[in-house]
Amino acid sequence: MKILVTGGCGFIGSHTVVELLEAGYEVVVIDDFSNSRRSVLDAIQEITGKVPFFYEGDVKKKELLRKIFREHSIDAVIHFAGYKAVGESVQQPLKYYENNLESTVHLCEVMSEFSCKKLVFSSSATVYGSPKSLPIREDFPLSTTNPYGTTKLMIENILRDLVVSDSHWSIALLRYFNPIGCHASGLIGEDPKGIPNNLMPYILKVAMGELPHLNVFGNDYDTKDGTGVRDYIHVADLARGHLKAIEYVMNTEGIDAYNLGTGKGYSVLDLVKTFEKVNHVSIPYEIRARRPGDIAICYADPSYAKEKLGWCAEKDLETMCLDAYRYVAKQAHKEEKVE
Ligand code: UD1
Repeated sequence: MKILVTGGCGFIGSHTVVELLEAGYEVVVIDDFSNSRRSVLDAIQEITGKVPFFYEGDVKKKELLRKIFREHSIDAVIHFAGYKAVGESVQQPLKYYENNLESTVHLCEVMSEFSCKKLVFSSSATVYGSPKSLPIREDFPLSTTNPYGTTKLMIENILRDLVVSDSHWSIALLRYFNPIGCHASGLIGEDPKGIPNNLMPYILKVAMGELPHLNVFGNDYDTKDGTGVRDYIHVADLARGHLKAIEYVMNTEGIDAYNLGTGKGYSVLDLVKTFEKVNHVSIPYEIRARRPGDIAICYADPSYAKEKLGWCAEKDLETMCLDAYRYVAKQAHKEEKVE
């Protein structure tokens, strides 16, 4: 079976490509490297011993999509490609609406032209806004607090309309909680360009001595130690969830949403302490004001994904911290050798 993966060189995309290749799928990747690197393709080959078909370019370009569908008999698509920086989306909303919406609409149009109607979409727990109770279930009310989140929710709605218009579509909306960690080989991982916005990438920069300390955004939340609580999930577990979703959409019609989380909440300081303990490094931190738009606690009820997709997360927080650090340490070692 042949799967097209848009954004297949990105953080979650590359881990999913590895899982797909190892499970025996043929994989076609399209990526424009706007937030990823070409070297990811070599790393994928080193891990799996296989090379995915690759097209460099923008998913908005229908002609390029048509070329891919003409050259390959695609059975299903996993759509990751999209901008994802919350702060930037507030500064440049039109860039986010244009890119994330147009790419999805064009992708679905071309899929339809080629009668490929099986899609797994990369959504986010951000669509739950500020949840009224916990754990978060898929049927909770949806709302967003920034343009990035709004693009995810708008795309979910566009895809629901599409299924209403044509019942042959089968679509899984995967709502990710907080993916961290990296492949156990240390060859692919999260490597954001510039100063990171998210917690684990920031901790990694501090661990490597590139930033002096972590800023902890608020210690006055109503949580066990006052810092924000999130459902951190190992990216390899998340990637496996996509394979389960592909199997599911291949055998069904309709559209549904699934939480991909562990169901466990950890605070910022839990993460810092676990990281320090397993990696034997110190992460100095300073308490700062709350970050606007942040919520106190967010964790999933992942039982629907278990029931429908037969998926659940397996890796614990210690493994997430070990694997995340292994990747950046390995990257730094490679850079030293080059110098
Ligand atoms: C953020 C996005 C969310 C997106 C997700 C992708 C915001 C408001 N939300 O979620 O839309 O889907 O990333 O992974 O940006 N923290 C610090 N110091 C830091 C960074 C974060 O204390 O330098 C804290 C935050 O206050 C929060 C926790 O760490 O309590 C996790 O933050 P982060 O990794 O940015 O994820 P989310 O805010 O959950």
